[in-house]
Amino acid sequence: MPHQIPLSDAESTRVKPGPVFAPLKTTFSGSANFGMNVFRFLRSRNHCYSVEFGELRRETAVRSVRRSPIGIFSRRSANGNRFAFIVAITLRVMNACFVKSSTLGRSSLAVLKSIDAGRAIPQVIFRNPVFSESDASRIMQKPLPFDAATVRKIAEKYPTPFYLYDEQGMRDSARSLNAAFSWCAGFREYFAVKALPNPYVLEALKEEGLGGDCSSLAELVLSEKIGLTGEDIMFTSNNTQAHEYRKAVEMGAIINLDDLSHIDYLKEYVGLPELLCFRYNPGSAREGNVIIGKPEEAKYGFTEAQLFEGYQILRDAGVKRFGLHTMVASNELNGDFFVETARMVFDLAVRIHAKLGVKMEFVNLGGGIGIPYRPEHKPVDLHAVGQGVKKVYDAMIAGTPLDPLKVIMENGRMITGPHGFLVTTAIHQKHIYRDYIGVDACMSNLMRPGMYGAYHHITVLGKENAPHDRMVDVVGSLCENNDKFAINRQLPAVERGDLLVIHDAGAHGHSMGFQYNGKLRCAELLLKPDGSVKMIRRAETHDDYFATLDFSGLATPQR
Ligand SMILES: Cc1ncc(COP(=O)(O)O)c(C=O)c1O
Repeated sequence: MPHQIPLSDAESTRVKPGPVFAPLKTTFSGSANFGMNVFRFLRSRNHCYSVEFGELRRETAVRSVRRSPIGIFSRRSANGNRFAFIVAITLRVMNACFVKSSTLGRSSLAVLKSIDAGRAIPQVIFRNPVFSESDASRIMQKPLPFDAATVRKIAEKYPTPFYLYDEQGMRDSARSLNAAFSWCAGFREYFAVKALPNPYVLEALKEEGLGGDCSSLAELVLSEKIGLTGEDIMFTSNNTQAHEYRKAVEMGAIINLDDLSHIDYLKEYVGLPELLCFRYNPGSAREGNVIIGKPEEAKYGFTEAQLFEGYQILRDAGVKRFGLHTMVASNELNGDFFVETARMVFDLAVRIHAKLGVKMEFVNLGGGIGIPYRPEHKPVDLHAVGQGVKKVYDAMIAGTPLDPLKVIMENGRMITGPHGFLVTTAIHQKHIYRDYIGVDACMSNLMRPGMYGAYHHITVLGKENAPHDRMVDVVGSLCENNDKFAINRQLPAVERGDLLVIHDAGAHGHSMGFQYNGKLRCAELLLKPDGSVKMIRRAETHDDYFATLDFSGLATPQR
């Protein structure tokens, strides 16, 4: 048994209060595989983990802590103090939280003291004894904009799975972004149509003043159908075909070229419009992130040297109006990132103007503002981003020949992501080496977890306050083992017929759907601000699935 040292009152009060997170019950034994097991486990955990000091090598600890912002530490071995220090420093660097379990040993105390000495962690909590399961389940919830009864009623009419979107939430997100940039007369958000390409959603966002950022012919046509025309549309595509450029030019959309060679391509097949924009890829100058990848490994955009060459070609070819675009982040929760992006493109705009006399009309900071998929994540402070960009604008652009310079963004996720829910029914349970909950949705309805290992919070309707004491994988029916909505997730006991709500599915959700295994895309429903529900896309049927096949030439008689 580890030696127990209670924290004195004085020591406890030095630890600042903060949010409480659920304790993780799993412990690890000191086997040779320990580090690897922990590492794998942490990757699959949704929110917290356990580390036994002294059993974990330094690199594993650091990698592990980086992957998850919350730790539960328990002491098991004698040389814990040095390790505790390393963990404390890492936590401090990661701006992480520390949660103490009920077993308090020397090493744990050392961690607390080290963190306290650093005074850099805003959310530190010490709880002894450990808090209850019901505390934990309550705290880990993500709110829903509707109650269980409403969803059950909807599910009586529309079979699961289906997407349910909260229109008011989407409108509110659009308004918040517009408000954050209200200082900039020319600010406009062009909603990334690929995130949620549904005409009813696009129409609502158009009413909020948003334009459309399109990446394909279909998205151009969709935008046209809801009355977005001309420069209400930004066409940011890559590896683009001539017929797509032609449609975009015919519509008068702002064309954003992805490569230097596309200047000649566009000129040859369609002709150069009077306004053109280039997409900049900063390469190793910026970091990117997991979803979008490192800029220098990304296929998108121009290098800096190509930008200068390209604008010179446009200028000499008689193009009159210019824009500059970049997109270096995806699901980025650090608001400063966007301020840095603004600094980067303002600087380029200034240098391009100085060297070529080309005056940008707008800069487009791209999309990529992140959303809090995990309950412990905080949304990006949009006001702070707006003010941060303003500060850089005032320092670099205001009063120069480039002023006024319009600032544009093309977010998808932050506008609709948190306001979309995939509702699915539990249909089976399975208990083998792990415990599984089988639901009637699958990865073809929402591929982010399978594709990126993305976390989507799950609420079991009506069991929000039940103890979340089952560790399960929530799976679909595809013949692919990454067809999992959650891995090692702590949920309440789920029974057949329970409705599960998968959160934050309103962007890059339904639109990424596919038909592998003959799975069909599900319906989309819109919860209107007046409480009514409108089906805005019906579910596919097997007739849809077979519609592109021709059975008439088969020798087999058709029934
Ligand atoms: C060019 C471009 N703009 C905007 C977006 C929207 O990104 P997000 O939904 O993360 O804001 C994307 C996403 O793929 C994109 O590729």
